[in-house]
Amino acid sequence: MSIQTSHPKQHRLEMIRVKPSELFESETLQATVKRGLTHQPKYLLCRFIYDAIGSELFEQICDQPEYYLTRTEDAILRDHADDMVDGWAQAPIMIELGSGSSTKTRRLIEAALDRYESLHYVPIDISETILEESARNLIRDYSSLKVTGIASDYDTALRVVADRMKGPKLLVFLGSSLGNFDDGDAVRLLQRIQGTLSTDDRFLFGTDLVKDAKVLEAAYDDSAGVTARFGKNILTRINRELGGNFDLNQFRYEARFSPEHHRVEMRLISEQEQIVTIPGVDLTVSFSAGESIHIENSHKYTPTILDQFAKQSGFVEERSWTDPDQFFRVQRWHV
Ligand code: TRP
Repeated sequence: MSIQTSHPKQHRLEMIRVKPSELFESETLQATVKRGLTHQPKYLLCRFIYDAIGSELFEQICDQPEYYLTRTEDAILRDHADDMVDGWAQAPIMIELGSGSSTKTRRLIEAALDRYESLHYVPIDISETILEESARNLIRDYSSLKVTGIASDYDTALRVVADRMKGPKLLVFLGSSLGNFDDGDAVRLLQRIQGTLSTDDRFLFGTDLVKDAKVLEAAYDDSAGVTARFGKNILTRINRELGGNFDLNQFRYEARFSPEHHRVEMRLISEQEQIVTIPGVDLTVSFSAGESIHIENSHKYTPTILDQFAKQSGFVEERSWTDPDQFFRVQRWHV
């Protein structure tokens, strides 16, 4: 694996990039569109919602009154960060998968700095711009923090971590991002994480819990329409990047909780019979009235499901924290 390291004008900041050709080749937008829109039922992959506009809309989702996830997880971190980072004689390396802007992580960073005085924080994110910007803000705000940003996908980053980061680790995975994986893929990711950790290490992650369907569906379809715009952003991308002619007004966004699959399923529904052309992939797609494109799932868990996941991936739960309504749960596991 050939990796590139730089220290952008700051000795406490290091950035690691992996050559794109060596990234575990995630499918391109073209391939996904071709496969997903010729499949029955139609689907697209949520990953493609997160371009610059999508990431901005997601930040706005986090501020919507109906989207309780971010607020609730942040409150749990605020109340228990001290315990979450406790347990080592010296600061563990704090590694975060999908760090984004690292806002909530500041709770953990501050608790660790209080306890251990200095800290090495390793944020991992696919978006290099967000990563470098938040890393700069962090070293500006905390004088005894060292940051190594890794711009890559989770799999590659976990290999870099295993190769180069020696010593006890606290691996952090917030925002119930695990929930965007189907159960099989979630367990496979947990197994890979387990494989990079040893007995002195801990895995700290947040998960959203099963609750009233109305609360769940509102969280994924806020009244201001931000989530609907976020979901439709994938059509905007297809129009812009592949010359598609989707009429956004002819699709309606919908979020439904499926108790059977313990997940909220997000779809775009064709308001009428229509034909869409996408020259970039040589595709003409016809929709019947009411036909849907599945764009994303967000899995919700019970302590029992999380227990099974731990068993299947070789982890043991050490502790967990939840809020008074038991909407969200943060747990610390060891191998
Ligand atoms: N990780 C977020 C979640 O599952 C992602 C998300 C929030 C999302 N709202 C969405 C994805 C709407 C697609 C559509 O909560």
